[in-house]
Amino acid sequence: MQTMTLAALWAISIASAGGDAADGAALYTTYCAACHGVDGRGPVGANFVEDKTRLAKPDAELLASIAEGKTTERGAMPPFAAVLDERQRADVLAYIRATFGEGPSPAPPRP
Ligand code: HEC
Repeated sequence: MQTMTLAALWAISIASAGGDAADGAALYTTYCAACHGVDGRGPVGANFVEDKTRLAKPDAELLASIAEGKTTERGAMPPFAAVLDERQRADVLAYIRATFGEGPSPAPPRP
């Protein structure tokens, strides 16, 4: 009985994060870690740990970067829209937020 309650609470907390960080972990290792690093500090891509401005962006903006790719003077990220479906892109972002950021909820921009 208690186990079921905990499972239900866990499911709710995951759902409210928009994506499932546990599912995102394997996707991150496969598709993202080569550039962003297993530690999120990115030998090539964005450094999610030290550059707080990255994860301060709203989900919609980061999901768009993941889907469409992003190229700047720092390097190029390929688009993942054809590789990962919408759910998987949300999962992998949830993993990044949970692991390298300050938690599942999008951090509101601070003044
Ligand atoms: C080929 C290297 C490469 C791969 C693979 C890659 N990225 Fe990136 N990513 C980059 C680079 C380079 C940037 C930074 C571009 C810039 O300077 O804004 C970036 C930026 C980002 C950003 C920040 C975008 C923003 O708007 O600030 C996110 C989020 C991100 N990547 C997620 C992912 C995810 C999720 C994956 C795996 C599905 C992934 N990346 C795979 C190179 C890569």
